[in-house]
Amino acid sequence: MKTRWAIVGLLVAACESEPQAVLSTEAVVDAEVSTTPTAPPEPAAEAGQVEHGQALVSKYQCNRCHDIDGVEPPELDYDCAGCHQKILAGDFEATEEELSHWQGRLHSLDEVPSLSGTDRLSRAWVASFLPAAHDVRPNLLASMPRFDMPDADAEAIAAFLVPSAEPERPTLGDAQRGRALLSEKGCMSCHRMTGVPAISALPTEEPLAADVLARGQKMAPDLRWARDRMRPASLVQWIVDPKAVKADASMPELGVTEAEAADIAAYLTSAELEPVALGEVPELPASLERPVTYAEVYDRIFGKICRHCHSDPDVVIGDGGPGYDGGFGFTKRALDLSTYEGLRSGSLDDDGKRRSVFKEVGGKPRIVAHLLARHSEVAGRPVEGVRGMPLGLPPIPMDDIVLLQTWIEQGRKKQ
Ligand code: HEC
Ligand code: HEC
Ligand code: HEC
Ligand code: HEC
Repeated sequence: MKTRWAIVGLLVAACESEPQAVLSTEAVVDAEVSTTPTAPPEPAAEAGQVEHGQALVSKYQCNRCHDIDGVEPPELDYDCAGCHQKILAGDFEATEEELSHWQGRLHSLDEVPSLSGTDRLSRAWVASFLPAAHDVRPNLLASMPRFDMPDADAEAIAAFLVPSAEPERPTLGDAQRGRALLSEKGCMSCHRMTGVPAISALPTEEPLAADVLARGQKMAPDLRWARDRMRPASLVQWIVDPKAVKADASMPELGVTEAEAADIAAYLTSAELEPVALGEVPELPASLERPVTYAEVYDRIFGKICRHCHSDPDVVIGDGGPGYDGGFGFTKRALDLSTYEGLRSGSLDDDGKRRSVFKEVGGKPRIVAHLLARHSEVAGRPVEGVRGMPLGLPPIPMDDIVLLQTWIEQGRKKQ
């Protein structure tokens, strides 16, 4: 039997809901809920696959963003998240002045979920996520890059991250009770669950320290994905004691009993979900009438974001970034966005030949097309053949993209 909602609410962020909505959900839940997923439990992964997956994790340089069980971190010059964290914590070797200048400009990849305790995840989910990542944590600025990854590679990496056989699936509890507990236990003070009628956000029974709450809110996944992501046994165990499942989990233990966790897990895995709402892709505004200079475009776009992945390695510390040298499994594009000359000399195509980033694709200069494609990806509509830029980061505001478009139309001069 399936859980059925009599009235399915609109997609409303949990924090916008009225507190009294909790107890008066106009929902009808069948008394007995079968929460057994239809796919059979996953067997242990083959040793050969696990080994191959570990080699691929090196090839795709996953450790530049993630701490990974059994994988060494890279040198600091290659460690995107590690270096950002060091700078923000103030223990990077530099002058006070440099540090505070950088700290004011650093926003992303300060925190990335570690890949430890990944045996809690469904191997099938990991394999489907890697080549076509979607946003899991609504309040985290960065998302997983959209890789260029064949399914076979994703399956091997999933085997490495989730080598074990799935434990026996537990009997889950009462979904309607679980829904009420999500509110009463304070779960929604950090989490959202999109696709179900809003669940009100009450505080946790024990008040949380401000830093625990802030970090938790930033890192908390949208609970709609939990049924696909988590193995059912780990899901229940996680709700009781997150650190027993993942030692560095950023969710605190909240005094939930095993039986309550089984109720919550029943709701998380069986509540009927509205489909993910596709976002609107904003229109590029009309080009500006006023003159636009390269300096302005550099300040707003290339110097602020792009050059961190697209630089000439001879002039920066470390490498030229994945958009220059290749990296994260991409081929070398040698696109330097840190200087006017670099921008003008373009990038390498799939055959290693230079091409202009101003040549039109789909009616827009290539470089503008890649920026617009990021808006489409975030709206859930990835563009075939044009990877959104900046890779895995929030889209550039339309008002800045139109600066670039205008500068190009005005003859893209250096001065
Ligand atoms: C540029 C940084 C970056 C790189 C490189 C990267 N990731 Fe991620 N990854 C992230 C971020 C950020 C998240 C969190 C995204 C979210 O929650 O929406 C994430 C999430 C994940 C998750 C989900 C884990 C969880 O707890 O939600 C898995 C699994 C994962 N990455 C695996 C990989 C693998 C395997 C690679 C290499 C093929 C890789 N990542 C490379 C940034 C990166
Ligand atoms: C050696 C330290 C170091 C490493 C390694 C490093 N960064 Fe940064 N990153 C910085 C500093 C410092 C800034 C701020 C500099 C500024 O804008 O003046 C920055 C800024 C950024 C920005 C723009 C601001 C923001 O937070 O969005 C992005 C994007 C970025 N880095 C991405 C990356 C990626 C991706 C990697 C790995 C491929 C990486 N960085 C590796 C030090 C580092
Ligand atoms: C202080 C904020 C906070 C509170 C309160 C909180 N969580 Fe979490 N929760 C998190 C964070 C952060 C993560 C991700 C942890 C990580 O990856 O290390 C998480 C992860 C989860 C996951 C795994 C989801 C997934 O897709 O990986 C579940 C399930 C979950 N929480 C359920 C609950 C329940 C049920 C409650 C209430 C009893 C609750 N949470 C309360 C912050 C919170
Ligand atoms: C996190 C790293 C990262 C950031 C930040 C980033 N890029 Fe990229 N960029 C890449 C990678 C990797 C590729 C190669 C992708 C591929 O081969 O499909 C690429 C490719 C491109 C290409 C296509 C080149 C070609 O000929 O195929 C353009 C154009 C581009 N980036 C522009 C930008 C602009 C503009 C920004 C800033 C708004 C930016 N990128 C920010 C990593 C990044």
